Amino acid sequence: MKSVLKVISVVIFTCVLFPLVASAEGDAAVGENTFKKKCKICHTTVKGDKAKIGPNLYGIHDRKAGQFVGYKYSKGIIAADLTWDDATLDAYLLKPRDVVKRGKMIFAGFRKEKDRNNVIAYLKTLKD
Ligand code: HEC
Repeated sequence: MKSVLKVISVVIFTCVLFPLVASAEGDAAVGENTFKKKCKICHTTVKGDKAKIGPNLYGIHDRKAGQFVGYKYSKGIIAADLTWDDATLDAYLLKPRDVVKRGKMIFAGFRKEKDRNNVIAYLKTLKD
């Protein structure tokens, strides 16, 4: 009887916890759509494409900020000395100006964590 209870509690625990973990992961397909609406006017994403108003974002995840060759970044983003991991991207997409003082990116920020998670999941797909 005890072991049956144990199995049941493990099942319940997994059912409750798994969706929470999964929701923090973000949906890259949804993120791609959001990106098209909110970011694409300023950013290209295909390897080798030119910068627009902002730099090309191919390979951006886990890369140091300010590395797209030929793009004139703000002094602020260079001085901030960031690496674009999940946490720094999350903070930047929430409030760009809080992360990069005197930065050039004019974007109000996503207030919804879900939007940020989805777009970050999409940015992670931009690699070989
Ligand atoms: C109005 C134009 C504009 C929009 C909209 C915009 N960006 Fe940017 N973005 C920029 C500019 C300009 C920079 C360069 C910032 C600097 O030099 O301070 C930048 C920089 C970045 C960087 C750092 C790039 C690097 O090489 O270090 C990331 C990441 C980024 N943007 C992601 C996004 C995402 C994701 C969105 C959509 C949610 C977005 N941006 C929307 C203009 C924009």
